[in-house]
Amino acid sequence: MNVLVTGGCGFIGSNFVRSVLRQKSNCRLINLDKLTYAGNPENLRDIEDDSRYRFVKGDITDAALVEQIFTEEKIDTVVHFAAESHVDRSIAGPAEFIQTNIVGTFTLLEAARKSWLQDGTGLADKRFLHVSTDEVYGSLGATGYFTEETSYDPRSPYSASKASSDHLVQAYYHTYGLPVLITNCSNNYGPYHFPEKLIPLIINNALNDKQLPVYGDGKQVRDWLYVEDHCAAVLRVLEKGTLGQTYNIGGNNEKQNIEIVTTVCNLLDEKVGLRDSGEPRTSLIRYVTDRPGHDRRYAIDATKIKDELGWTPAVTFEEGIRKTVDWYLDNPDWVAGVLDGSYQDYYERMYGNR
Ligand SMILES: NC(=O)c1ccc[n+]([C@@H]2O[C@H](COP(=O)([O-])OP(=O)(O)OC[C@H]3O[C@@H](n4cnc5c(N)ncnc54)[C@H](O)[C@@H]3O)[C@@H](O)[C@H]2O)c1
Repeated sequence: MNVLVTGGCGFIGSNFVRSVLRQKSNCRLINLDKLTYAGNPENLRDIEDDSRYRFVKGDITDAALVEQIFTEEKIDTVVHFAAESHVDRSIAGPAEFIQTNIVGTFTLLEAARKSWLQDGTGLADKRFLHVSTDEVYGSLGATGYFTEETSYDPRSPYSASKASSDHLVQAYYHTYGLPVLITNCSNNYGPYHFPEKLIPLIINNALNDKQLPVYGDGKQVRDWLYVEDHCAAVLRVLEKGTLGQTYNIGGNNEKQNIEIVTTVCNLLDEKVGLRDSGEPRTSLIRYVTDRPGHDRRYAIDATKIKDELGWTPAVTFEEGIRKTVDWYLDNPDWVAGVLDGSYQDYYERMYGNR
């Protein structure tokens, strides 16, 4: 396999690149990443010298570059992670979300269509896997689950842009017969998560005796999945999924945001002791004005991927959250580099002006 991974310097993409290189000897991975604020090539420091791996700094909306990579590297597989991914940022400024998530996905689909339908090698060994989110389905009440049949009802600029890209991917399957697969996953957590997202934000603030902001009443429910389980699911869909199909991926792990925050506080109290004031870290919790359009509950029904592809999550929330807190405690330099912005110099330091 010659795999184009987009967004491989982000949170999930970097975990995916590492796990594929660990498991598969017969593949070459080309990581195309623009290195936005969310992209950190240091996430892959341990594998960057692997001869099966190549990093290309570039934008997925750059059609000429994407086409050049398809030709040069004889790309037969695309695993598309690159996106603007933070809901709050999509509310403050949606334009980048439209550009990267919609136009970028379109650019990749076009490159695949042109390359694969014209190169005469057929489509049998080609795959275009689009990584998406459960947020496209909108918000649930107290009961029920998102299945692959649930109607799309996106409610933030982020989820609307992802929904739009999902529709484009489906359209390329029906219109051109492009061999696509789509995964819609719940909230991920684990190592290399950028500290603007809930769990790493809480870990870092709680360690530094800063307030812990919780939106609204904190009772919003999300289904949490350890990132390595997500990566395993994506690989399973890539290898065994039925073309044109969508697979929901979830951890069967519904938690209220406030439960997540409390769990992290208690784990830190246990591992590094109470605050200097002698109080538990839960005393840092502050309820703040809710996010506009904040979806109340997401919950995934992952029966299809379990029954058809035999995938279930391997890591319980209790294990996963301990591993995550330990990773942040064990990697203070990574955290410091992200917090002070110096991670953004890593590319120049490692790769010069390439
Ligand atoms: N994080 C989650 O909980 C979650 C859940 C479900 C689905 N997803 C989806 O998984 C994918 C990855 O999410 P993540 O949390 O790792 O995101 P992330 O924000 O950590 O990483 C995104 C990566 O994409 C790169 N990128 C952004 N714009 C680009 C562009 N125009 N060209 C090339 N690269 C670009 C960034 O530099 C970064 O490395 C996204 O598509 C997201 O919608 C995420």
